[in-house]
Amino acid sequence: MIKTILAQVKQYKRASILTPMFMVLEVVVDILIPRTMALLIDRGIQMKNAQNIALYGGCMVILAVLGLLFGVLAGKYAAYASSGVACNVREAMYANIQKFSFSNIDKFSTASLVTRLTTDVTNLQNAYQMVIRICFRAPCTLIFAMIMTVIISPKLSMIFLVAVGAMVIILGIIIYLAMGRFRAVFEKYDDLNASVQENVSAIRVVKAFVREDYENTKFTKAAGNIYKMFVRAERIVSINAPVMNAAVYGCMLALSWFAASMISAGDLTTGELTSLFSYVMNILMSLMMLSMIFVMLTMSVASIRRISEVINEKPDLVSPEHADFEVPDGSVDFEHVSFAYRKGSGQAVLEDINLHINAGETIGIIGGTGSSKSSLVNLISRLYDVTEGCVKVGGKDVRRYDLETLRNEVSVVLQKNVLFSGTILENLRWGDPDATEEECRRACELACADEFIKGFPEGYETYIEQGGTNVSGGQKQRLCIARALLKKPKILILDDSTSAVDTATDAKIRKAFREEIPGTTKFIISQRISSVQDADRIIVLDNGKISGFDTHENLLQNNHIYQEVYEGQMQGGGDFDQKGGGTDGF
Ligand SMILES: Nc1ncnc2c1ncn2[C@@H]1O[C@H](COP(=O)(O)OP(=O)(O)O)[C@@H](O)[C@H]1O
Ligand SMILES: [Mg+2]
Repeated sequence: MIKTILAQVKQYKRASILTPMFMVLEVVVDILIPRTMALLIDRGIQMKNAQNIALYGGCMVILAVLGLLFGVLAGKYAAYASSGVACNVREAMYANIQKFSFSNIDKFSTASLVTRLTTDVTNLQNAYQMVIRICFRAPCTLIFAMIMTVIISPKLSMIFLVAVGAMVIILGIIIYLAMGRFRAVFEKYDDLNASVQENVSAIRVVKAFVREDYENTKFTKAAGNIYKMFVRAERIVSINAPVMNAAVYGCMLALSWFAASMISAGDLTTGELTSLFSYVMNILMSLMMLSMIFVMLTMSVASIRRISEVINEKPDLVSPEHADFEVPDGSVDFEHVSFAYRKGSGQAVLEDINLHINAGETIGIIGGTGSSKSSLVNLISRLYDVTEGCVKVGGKDVRRYDLETLRNEVSVVLQKNVLFSGTILENLRWGDPDATEEECRRACELACADEFIKGFPEGYETYIEQGGTNVSGGQKQRLCIARALLKKPKILILDDSTSAVDTATDAKIRKAFREEIPGTTKFIISQRISSVQDADRIIVLDNGKISGFDTHENLLQNNHIYQEVYEGQMQGGGDFDQKGGGTDGF
C-alpha cells in the first residue's frame, strides 16, 4: 500500500528529502537559541558585560534568521513535494481507470471513483506533507532538547523524563480512543459522499418525483450523524490541551523548586534555568505534535488504501501479446457461450448460446428487460469476457484481437449512452477524430440527425452541455448513432438506441442503413417488434436463453413468445414487458 504511493514520488524525491533536512536544521537552530540566551544572561546581563551582550545577542539574531530561512525552505519543499506526489498519484489513478474494463468499473462505482480521485488524494497530500515535515521535526526536537537538558543538568533532566513518560501514557490513551472514533467518522463519510453523488447526478429525477423533502431529511440525518460522531471524536482530542498545560506548568513548578536550591548552591545559573524552561515547552510540544500526527495518519490510512486499490486494480481485459490487427469481415459466431457477471449473484445471465451470423446481415434482438440482450451484444466488442465458450468475429476469437482494432470495427451504441460537453461536431468526432465535416454530415443524415441539427441556430457548432442535457432523448440517441457510424465499422450494434425516437424516424433510419451500409452487420435491440420485423433474422431472448432465431414470418408461426408480443403490440402498442396490454412508452 505504502509502496504504491512511494512509487509515485518520482521527480519529487529531491524535494521529499530536502524537506526533512531543512526541518532538522531548523530544529538544531531552534534548540541552540535558548542555550545562547542562557549565555547572554549569565555572561552578559549578570556580569554587566556589554561586549558579551552584543556578541550573544548577535548570535541569537543570526540563529533566528537561519531558523527562519530553514523553516521557509522546508515549507517550500514540503508544499512542492506533497502537491507533486498528489498530482502523480492522480495521474496514475486516472491512467489506470482509463484502462478499466466494464467489470472493473462495476466493482468500483463511479461515485466512489470520484471520491477517491478528489477527497482521498487531498487527504494523502496533507498526510504526506506532515510526514516529511513534522515526522522528522518532532522526534528531532525531542531528542536534541533532551540532550541539552542533560548537558545543562543531569539531575534536573530527570524531571523531564518523568514528564515525558507520563505524557506518553496519557497521549497514548487519547490517541487510542480518538483513532477508533475518527475511523468510524470516515466510514460514514463514504456513505454520505455516495448518497450526495447519487442524488446530485440524478437531481432531475428527484424533482420529477417530488422527492426533495424526503432526500433532504435523509441527508440531514446522515450529516447530523457525522456531526455527532465528529464531536465525540473531537471531545477526546480536546483533552490534549489541558493535559499539555498541566504537564508544562507542573514541570516548571518542579524545575523552580529544585533549581532554587541549586542556584543558591552555585550548581546552576539563572540563564541555564531560563533555557530549561524553554526546553520544557519544546519537548512537550513535540510530543503533542507526534500524537496529533498519529491521529491524522490513521485518518489518511483509509484514503491511502482506497487510492492504492485503484492504482493496483488490474484491468481484466487486455490485448493479447501477439494481437491480431485485422478483422476480416463482420461475421459473428457464438459457440457454447455462457456468461455471468462477477459482481452480483454470480449466476449465469447467458447460458449455452450458439449463433452463426453472416457478414452484412441485419439481426433483430428482442426480449423483456433483464433477458440479457445487452449482455449478449456486449460480448461481441469484448466489453466483457465470456465465462465459457467463445465469441468469434470474422471467424477469430475476440480475445485474439487487439482491443482497439476490435472496438473500432465493432461499434456499439450503448443503452446508457452519453454525449460529452462540447460542440456537436466535437462529439461526432469521438467516432473518428479525422472525419471531415462532410463525413460528419453524411453520418448524421443516415442517423436522421441532420434534420434537427440544421434547425439549431448554430447548426453543427451547437454546444452540447455536460451529459447532453440540452438535447432531447431522441435527438441524443440519433447523435450517438451518427457518432458510431463515423467509425465505419464492420459491425454496428444499436442497444435500444431508438427507444426515444418516433416510429417514423426509426423506420427511416433503418431504411438508410439497409440502403447505404449494406455490408455492415447490424444488431438492433429493441422492445418494439416494428423496429426489428424487417431484419433478416430475429433473436428472441428469454431469461438468458435463445427462445427463437428466425425470420419475422417464421417466428410468427412457431414462436409463441413472439406471437404473443406481436399480437399485443398490434392491438394496443404495448411493449415487450406488457405482453398484450398497456400503452407504448410511459
Ligand atoms: N453490470 C452488471 N453487473 C451485474 N449484473 C448485471 C450487470 N448488468 C446487467 N446485469 C444483470 O444481468 C441480467 C441481464 O441484464 P441485461 O443484459 O442488461 O438485460 P437487458 O438488456 O435484456 O435488459 C439482469 O438480471 C441484470 O440484473
Ligand atoms: Mg439492455
